[in-house]
Amino acid sequence: MADRLTLATPSAMASVSAARIAPRFLPSANAAVAKLCFRSPLELKSLGSSSLFSPLFLAQKSALQRLPSSRIGYSTASSPKCFASDPEELKVAREDIKELLKTKFCHPILVRLGWHDAGTYNKNIEEWPQRGGANGSLRFEVELKHGANAGLVNALKLLQAIKDKYSNVTYADLFQLASATAIEEAGGPKIPMKYGRVDVSGPEQCPEEGRLPDAGPPSPAAHLRDVFYRMGLNDKEIVALSGAHTLGRSRPDRSGWGKPETKYTKDGPGAPGGQSWTVQWLKFDNSYFKDIKERRDEDLLVLPTDAVLFEDPSFKEYAEKYAVDQDAFFRDYAEAHAKLSNLGAKFDPPEGFSI
Ligand code: HEM
Repeated sequence: MADRLTLATPSAMASVSAARIAPRFLPSANAAVAKLCFRSPLELKSLGSSSLFSPLFLAQKSALQRLPSSRIGYSTASSPKCFASDPEELKVAREDIKELLKTKFCHPILVRLGWHDAGTYNKNIEEWPQRGGANGSLRFEVELKHGANAGLVNALKLLQAIKDKYSNVTYADLFQLASATAIEEAGGPKIPMKYGRVDVSGPEQCPEEGRLPDAGPPSPAAHLRDVFYRMGLNDKEIVALSGAHTLGRSRPDRSGWGKPETKYTKDGPGAPGGQSWTVQWLKFDNSYFKDIKERRDEDLLVLPTDAVLFEDPSFKEYAEKYAVDQDAFFRDYAEAHAKLSNLGAKFDPPEGFSI
């Protein structure tokens, strides 16, 4: 039966047009005021006069004035140190993310958002933020418009409502918190996460386009190694992380890959349509490895970069193991996911903290 199933091809290499990215999304003002822990008047000044007079700024400024000084982070002897994110706010935000997942079934796109923020990391560049990685840069329109990020504006819009409630949580932390929570809530392993990621402050700090992988490159194995080795990840981590495709769907109008709908996606849950890699695409388990190995179902997706996991001898060793041993997959996935979530991040405090 294997020959019945052909690999997915880009059905409409639709590139993301600027018009499809919601123009109202102007996170820069938000980002600039997001961190209420101003450490110096310079930080305020650097926001620029236009953002200072925006309604958003004024609303947040009055909220700031209502806060006790210990929360604002002025350096007084009695106030606690103000980290990049407030651990207590992160914990409450996690509960809000759980609620969001229950109503919107957005687990997959939140995982993809966290991965695309972190996956721009280049281990050969030492300076932050030039090295890319989990620094919240994906909130800026210039990066959202990169072809690889098509559709992720929808994930950002969902999280923005939570961000607006918790100004002492950075975008970089919120993206990674949302992704790890989505994996765990979908039945996946507990991810050993740490927090305290500092946000980049402006769109000029976004990485250039082209650091994320293509789904259909001429040599998929070599391409995956180029991209993931640049992040400092190895073959085992490439295979384990690819297992995140046990969740979610591909949509021709976003990435150009997959069918517009299948019997597994035509009724949702969430926005209907797209082609999933697995039958139960909101459940995190090892079915991705079983399904791409067997290729028995034309309604399930196999990208060239998925297929190669059972073709390349080194990748195959792990893919075969994960297809029969879900515990091994969960162990390796949890470790690799945590590592991915830390790539390129600058932590405050430097060692990070857990919640
Ligand atoms: C190995 C290289 C990878 C390639 C070439 C790739 C490619 C893709 C493509 C083409 C889509 C469809 C996007 C759309 O049309 O909406 C997608 C979706 C997705 N990717 Fe990947 N991906 C890769 C690795 C990863 C990794 C490492 C993760 C997470 C750790 C991940 C998580 C996801 C998820 C959860 C979705 C579903 C999103 C949704 O349903 O909205 N991917 N990926």
